[in-house]
Amino acid sequence: MTDEDRLAHRPLRTYGRRGGRPLSGRQKQLFETLLPQIRVPVGAPGALDPATLFDDVDEIWLEIGFGGGEHTSGQAKSHPEVGLLASEVFIEGMAKCLGQIEDEGLTNVRLWEEDARELMAGLRDQCIDRVFILFPDPWPKTKQQKRRLIQPDFLDDLARVLKPGGRVRFATDVRSYADEALERLLRHPAFDWLAETAEDWRRAPADHIQTRYQTKNLGDIAPVYFEFICA
Ligand SMILES: C[S@@+](CC[C@H](N)C(=O)[O-])C[C@H]1O[C@@H](n2cnc3c(N)ncnc32)[C@H](O)[C@@H]1O
Repeated sequence: MTDEDRLAHRPLRTYGRRGGRPLSGRQKQLFETLLPQIRVPVGAPGALDPATLFDDVDEIWLEIGFGGGEHTSGQAKSHPEVGLLASEVFIEGMAKCLGQIEDEGLTNVRLWEEDARELMAGLRDQCIDRVFILFPDPWPKTKQQKRRLIQPDFLDDLARVLKPGGRVRFATDVRSYADEALERLLRHPAFDWLAETAEDWRRAPADHIQTRYQTKNLGDIAPVYFEFICA
């Protein structure tokens, strides 16, 4: 494959800005000291067994695009028996999450500050028990919708890294994204929808943790929560 081919096949960027306000002195320090200690060592495609990154955990979870990190640190604190891989490209969000990890003394989170799809490509097959994709960038304009994370190729990658019986939680408050993501997940042979009644997708799951971003209600519908299981 030539460099030109590689560029042509590079997936579209699914996120907006990476930079925000300047980091505080403490945040810069956390980037220099804590992040290198807990950064996911992504290497050759398909090579990483994430269970080797944690001392003693029962399950491995993955959160994609954690924003300010409130859900990541909240779940990690409630579930010390879980090893959590968490990815975010927004530098200020990563800095906030590093601060929460230090403040709470969390030892069961590993971070990836680049595109989550690169992290997934580095993981071996069937190594993840749960995936959270919460309020992903909505790209509401029709012309931008091809930038949405939930694409058929992405779902193939998700199906590869999930264990059989592994679960995916997708949430959004944007109607066109809810419709599109649901249709793509339903059409994908690896995923089965767990909802039995409308309440199952309308009501926040008992273990859901709201973030500051969610409380802004930037979408056009009440949030929906789709839980899928991987065959
Ligand atoms: C709209 S925010 C929601 C954040 C968080 N999930 C919440 O509910 O508060 C979506 C986040 O996903 C991040 N993001 C988008 N595409 C990503 C990717 N491919 N890899 C990692 N992070 C990504 C963005 O930087 C942004 O911070």
